[in-house]
Amino acid sequence: MKRTHWWQTAVIYQIYPRSFQDSNGDGVGDLAGITSRLGYLSELGVDAIWISPIFQSPMKDFGYDISDYRAIDPLFGAMEDFETLLEAAHSRGLKVLLDFVPNHSSDQHPWFIGSRSSRTNPKRDWYIWRDPAPDGGPPNNWLSEFGGSAWEFDGKTGQYYYHAFLSSQPDLNWRNREVVDAMHDVLRFWLDKGVDGFRVDVIWHLIKDSAFPDNPPNSDYRPGKPPHQKVVPLYTTDLPEVHDVIAGMRRVVDEFDDRLLIGEIYLPLERLVAYYGRDLDGAHLPFNFALLNTPWDARKIAQLISEYEAALPRGGWPNWVLGNHDQPRIAGRIGSPQAAVAAMLLLTLRGTPTIYYGDELGMPQAHIPPERVRDPFEKNVPGIGVGRDGSRTPMQWDATENAGFSTSEPWLPLAEGWKSANVANLREDGTSILNLYRRLMGARRKSAALAHGGYRPYLTEQDLLIYFREFEDERVLIALNLTHIDSAITFPPGQIVGSVLVSIFGDRDGEHVADTVVLRGDEGVVIKLDSV
Ligand code: GLC
Repeated sequence: MKRTHWWQTAVIYQIYPRSFQDSNGDGVGDLAGITSRLGYLSELGVDAIWISPIFQSPMKDFGYDISDYRAIDPLFGAMEDFETLLEAAHSRGLKVLLDFVPNHSSDQHPWFIGSRSSRTNPKRDWYIWRDPAPDGGPPNNWLSEFGGSAWEFDGKTGQYYYHAFLSSQPDLNWRNREVVDAMHDVLRFWLDKGVDGFRVDVIWHLIKDSAFPDNPPNSDYRPGKPPHQKVVPLYTTDLPEVHDVIAGMRRVVDEFDDRLLIGEIYLPLERLVAYYGRDLDGAHLPFNFALLNTPWDARKIAQLISEYEAALPRGGWPNWVLGNHDQPRIAGRIGSPQAAVAAMLLLTLRGTPTIYYGDELGMPQAHIPPERVRDPFEKNVPGIGVGRDGSRTPMQWDATENAGFSTSEPWLPLAEGWKSANVANLREDGTSILNLYRRLMGARRKSAALAHGGYRPYLTEQDLLIYFREFEDERVLIALNLTHIDSAITFPPGQIVGSVLVSIFGDRDGEHVADTVVLRGDEGVVIKLDSV
């Protein structure tokens, strides 16, 4: 085996803590709840959990608005509950990643309370303050991702502050050295406790143009799209200096042994890969979200994989994501039968996969009635489908009341179908998507080719996605049928001889394959090829 970092062969599992397991009957998930479900995660076969923010917060954006970076919010428990979780996870060999939200704090953070109290407060420059435009309006045309101007007027001090998201989420000024030092110390605080790394929120937003020019209009904008897309975020995101900021965070993470830095970045591939940093001094894994918006079409996905592989810098390790708490559920987007094919894709591509909680149950995108909407994005920009509640519904553990998630009414309704699509049920069904996830992770663990071998596409004219994973003399063939129609592919004689390692429906394991691979609709197979 070649030397790899733990996170290169790991499978990461994202937990949205409000929705995983409630332990105290308030309808919201918590840390003790997660600890009580670690056995499930071990059984599933993941290697690391990333927990969305658990820090003290007014919860205007459900924890992405932090008022104390070093405290656990009482809703989720106490610091001891976190320490218990960390220790219990580590004793099972599970790594724990936290969500670091450095771009903005809550407006209730003492730093911001100080900053807005007067123009001469020592924390004034920790946030981004500007004088009004000559007409008294916002300083420029920058827009908030959650609707409206990104500038909020503060009557007391007569200036505007910048917020890329909610007005209760003021952006920190990463050009200020004291901010950098304070945030580095936050990282050290958690690293000292033993966390294994961070997923860094909106990392490509951290630096804004210091001359504050207007963003250019977006000629591609069409009504019905989120209003912030009316301008191109040229001067508000992805600025060259952001890479120095990230390299600074990386140096802090590297003060500790073998910790991981992941960046949340929504950018086209050629700009995304810059986030590995010069000489790989940036994020270890800039999240690759390309599968989230590529049409579910074999040729388009094959092309995407090749483009991504080609764009990676030398030594840059790939990663793949099918869903997260900001995106529609994969099963909702492509349908349940294909969600299983997507699982096989995610877990057999080269690179570190991240599973979004519940996708292993095929959880659908839930319909949220207007009176149950909680997401501030949907509340600010209603009716165009930006709401994120539908992919944040409670984990479906069993068919008892509230799906075993809570003893009282959950903060969001359960998704349709939970009475059958739950852990207790699916665990007993050998053909279920849950068992498919388990079998795929089991196969990855046993196969160096799947865990860290090379990727080689096999080009076909058909609607099948076919590729090899190879390490030394171990070769694995993956064939995925992205349609509902049966299909077969015949290879040149003698090249493809082996046996099925994993099949989508679980009924072909060990089947001998020679020259021709037959696939039912919505089927995929992982075939271990005989060595030649
Ligand atoms: C990230 C988070 C999202 C949050 C936003 C603002 O995109 O994933 O949930 O609303 O940042 O913090």
